[in-house]
Amino acid sequence: AAPCDLYASGGTPCIAAHSTTRALYSAYSGQLYQVKRGSDNTTTIISPLSTGGVANAAVQDTFCASTTCLITVIYDQSGRGNHLTQAPPGGFRGPESNGYDNLASATGAPVTLDGKKVYGVFISPGTGYRNNAASGTATGDSAEGMYAVFDGTHYNSGCCFDYGNAETNSLDTGNGHMEALYFGTNTAWGTGAGSGPWLMADLENGLFSGQNPKNNAGDPSISFRFFTTILKGGPNKWAIRGANAASGPLSTYYNGMRPSVSGYNPMHKEGAIILGIGGDNSVSAQGTFYEGVMTSGYPTDATENSVQENIVAAKYATTSLTSGPILTVGSSISLRATTPGYTTRYLAHTGSTINTQVVDSSSSTSLKQQASWTVRAGLGNNACFSFESKDTVGNYIRHSAFELKLSASDGSKQFKEDATFCPQSGLNGQGNSIRAWGYPTRYIRHYSNVAYISSNGGVHSFDQAASFNDDSSWVIGSSFA
Ligand code: AHR
Ligand code: AHR
Ligand code: AHR
Repeated sequence: AAPCDLYASGGTPCIAAHSTTRALYSAYSGQLYQVKRGSDNTTTIISPLSTGGVANAAVQDTFCASTTCLITVIYDQSGRGNHLTQAPPGGFRGPESNGYDNLASATGAPVTLDGKKVYGVFISPGTGYRNNAASGTATGDSAEGMYAVFDGTHYNSGCCFDYGNAETNSLDTGNGHMEALYFGTNTAWGTGAGSGPWLMADLENGLFSGQNPKNNAGDPSISFRFFTTILKGGPNKWAIRGANAASGPLSTYYNGMRPSVSGYNPMHKEGAIILGIGGDNSVSAQGTFYEGVMTSGYPTDATENSVQENIVAAKYATTSLTSGPILTVGSSISLRATTPGYTTRYLAHTGSTINTQVVDSSSSTSLKQQASWTVRAGLGNNACFSFESKDTVGNYIRHSAFELKLSASDGSKQFKEDATFCPQSGLNGQGNSIRAWGYPTRYIRHYSNVAYISSNGGVHSFDQAASFNDDSSWVIGSSFA
């Protein structure tokens, strides 16, 4: 039995079921998600390989070959039509045109399920999905449950990487108007034990780890790569529970009365569904979602325990984040542009600006050094890479406001992530295209001979779709110096 079969047998059926990785009912063979490709803006649907099975990601890989793809729709498997699509502006505006949020890359979160490659939903800051007209979700003080599987190593302190119940107008309408899973290191409201990240409940104008609106030592810091998260709430009761999604049982982090501050008892749930954002479309958070559901009614611990057993049996595991020509840690490299008319240019720096410059064997030693880079294990994720300057040791290529910069490491999590890049086969068939680890819709690209992390189309001039594949494909060779 799959998660929603188990919730149904427990008398608390799923009223929304979302996953890009697998069917959440054993009889489900319908649509899992839709992707849109950059080459011609057409879409295709990804469904399970077999009834009740894992996503047929090969369909995506074929459709998205030699271009970029975004996840446009995450379908509801419950039959209620509670699909998740690009979130609209609310109390906060998203970064896309008209204030919409960004869509996630279709390739930012590859994993395997029982050895088969599938893709999760990698939420970068600015990314969000929503359904403000969901049916069957809990409203007012009525009871609901939910679970989601997240990447326990992908988080930040921004508000708010959430999945669950939120306002139907994308505005902060007051305490108790949300009931959603939150994961991250935000400390503006509640905290748990240690330095986080924590699972908390976003109940609006507060992230709660227990009854006390501040610290609750029973809510642990998490270091599982795959993290099962559970939240349930009913009249003057709620609970948060969690587990390693790859093994073992659930633990209960909190189970008791509603918070000891006003506005949360009774609750005022509105019944929209959010993913990756706060109730008011706060868009500063990051995280990765693999699967999740919402139920009608308050699930028993026993039902949730059986759902956790099913998740473990699905066998989530990591897989490579890179492809294409191999990079070797410790080697010295150059990166040559492949855009016709620019093929004598190499990725280089002038002071802190990263640009392309014409370099050849007769160039000065200093220019040769400016265009030479040492490959390092990714500072923010060692499955990818960082690039250290040859002439300014201790300085790395990082992005900031989507522009590449040469900058000394300050040791922060933000710096390390901004300096981490994941090479894949070149989008134009040459060399490598190099994704920003934290923004997998964005690739190292030259534009007017200056270097950015660019998306294939978007609001910045450097995101222009014309020439994108060429501008973001680089031939890696031995270094000049
Ligand atoms: O409760 C935390 C956040 O506060 C909510 O997600 C958001 O709507 C508000 O800004
Ligand atoms: O480059 C995008 C973001 O801009 C970086 O992640 C952050 O450091 C900066 O604010
Ligand atoms: O970086 C040089 C060129 O500038 C790029 O090929 C083009 O996209 C932009 O106009």
